[in-house]
Amino acid sequence: MRRIAHISDLHFGAHDPAIVAALHAALVGEAPDLVVVSGDLTQRAKSRQFRAADAFLRGLEAAGMRLLVVPGNHDIPLYNVARRLLAPLDRYCRTVARGRSACYADGEIAALGLVSAHGLTIKDGRLTRLQIASIPRAFAAAAPETFRLLVTHHPLVPLRDESGALDEALRGAGRALTAVRKAGVHLILAGHNHAASAEIGGPQLATDAQVMVVQAGTATSWRRRGTPNSFNLLTIEAGRLTVDQRDAIDGAFVTSRRRSFALGRDGWSSA
Ligand SMILES: [Fe+2]
Ligand SMILES: [Fe+2]
Repeated sequence: MRRIAHISDLHFGAHDPAIVAALHAALVGEAPDLVVVSGDLTQRAKSRQFRAADAFLRGLEAAGMRLLVVPGNHDIPLYNVARRLLAPLDRYCRTVARGRSACYADGEIAALGLVSAHGLTIKDGRLTRLQIASIPRAFAAAAPETFRLLVTHHPLVPLRDESGALDEALRGAGRALTAVRKAGVHLILAGHNHAASAEIGGPQLATDAQVMVVQAGTATSWRRRGTPNSFNLLTIEAGRLTVDQRDAIDGAFVTSRRRSFALGRDGWSSA
């Protein structure tokens, strides 16, 4: 059995300090095997915001947690165009990424994080052909029974935005999904749209039972878009996945929704 805490869109600089403390307490209480942080650690990629994010992550590590971290579009400077184009992830790499891995493997799970944020657009993401080619390679050495996860900030599967329209946030997503199937990836974790969800195939891939898509809401930002702060606690055991959505209510994270899925020969089904 493995338990993964999936947190995202912390947005230090636009964060609620009380919620940050509540998140730390919740994660320490759960003691998951792995904490996945799927990007937007800062609000505007400022040095002090990265230092605050780094301090939060160090607090988790001090409590014995393993981390897998990828950046989001907010971790790239917005207004400093030279920095955005020439060294978009410089501050991220010197703080949050330093000494931390974007992949994880143990005897039961293997996880790969890919950087989908870049400096050429304000908000949307992309995966390059090289990154996409790395997906099957990254999982090639894993034993067949290994549960495989891919982590990006931008969703690979288009999700519905506030107006209900499908938002294709990631360039290269189609090719990446082909690679995901080839690599036998079971689960895709992402953030970015500040709305928690767990769906087989996602809204546009409803017939593709091979791919499970779990989105995390914003864990600590006050940019909540009408939803509470939240994170997901995933339990993976014997071909079953349980996704507990923990919402911040009255200053503490509590389970607001539980969804269970089973992984069979034909892919995922609700359990
Ligand atoms: Fe965000
Ligand atoms: Fe984002």
